[in-house]
Amino acid sequence: MKEIILRNGINVPLIGIGTWQITDRDTVMNVINDAYELGYRLVDTAAAYSNEISIAKAIENAGIPRGQIIISDKVWNSSRGYEGVQDACKRSLKKMKTDYFDMYLVHWPASKKLYPDWAEINADTWRGMERLYSEGLVKAIGVCNYNISHLEELRKTAEIMPFVDQVEFHPGYIQSELFDYCKRNNICLEASSPLGNGQILNNKEIIKIAEKHTKTPAQVCLNWAIKKEIIVIPKSTSRKRIEENINVFNFELDLDEEKILDEMAYCGGIGLNPDEVTEFG
Ligand code: A2P
Repeated sequence: MKEIILRNGINVPLIGIGTWQITDRDTVMNVINDAYELGYRLVDTAAAYSNEISIAKAIENAGIPRGQIIISDKVWNSSRGYEGVQDACKRSLKKMKTDYFDMYLVHWPASKKLYPDWAEINADTWRGMERLYSEGLVKAIGVCNYNISHLEELRKTAEIMPFVDQVEFHPGYIQSELFDYCKRNNICLEASSPLGNGQILNNKEIIKIAEKHTKTPAQVCLNWAIKKEIIVIPKSTSRKRIEENINVFNFELDLDEEKILDEMAYCGGIGLNPDEVTEFG
């Protein structure tokens, strides 16, 4: 498995198993078991996914040694702030039956529409994240759904800038300015919903490229993102598709094909703009 090295020297596999929307206990067990057997070594979860306990059980049942798996978790919006984030992390560590997370991420920036003091809230939360990092409870800290304005604001108070920013990223939703910003600042981009939540896989241009390489549309999307050194965490509950999603290293798109995917118009996905979204608080 190809890996990326974060600024602090931590190695992270370029493909992980996503677990958003997988809550049924037996399904979680099967997904984690299948993913590990098929070569996945990164699992992405979040307090808000309500599956931490099941994932921990699955890791235990499969007999996966802690050192053999990279666990990435996220703090939910109701636990922002210096103390809040530390308490939340400790609760999640307990649920996951581990004494450290490999990666721990802030799930959403405070909404600019809901909180006039959004910048202070984010800064305070981040101080708590830095504390967790300095105490060794988390090996790398990062954010999700942060755009350039959030990151630039954070820069004013942060001692350590995020190592990772997990955002929606797939053909049709490339966020190129953020991509360039993260490259320049050595922040690793991680693609949540790298398949556009499954909605972009019927796109005619993606299908055409896939057929040319005798690959599937999902494999094309993942190969395209990985080439940009973006971590992808496709979610699937099907062993066949979990396998398909990790077999993406043995072909190369040509430059014209990359350009088509780079410049593709929006064709589906989650599409939540952190500056607009208010329903999560
Ligand atoms: P399923 O769980 O039935 O496989 P994303 O990771 O972008 O959020 O996409 C997840 C969605 O894409 C899920 O609905 C998942 O359905 C579907 N999916 C995952 N892998 C594949 C694949 N290789 N081919 C088709 N659909 C897939």
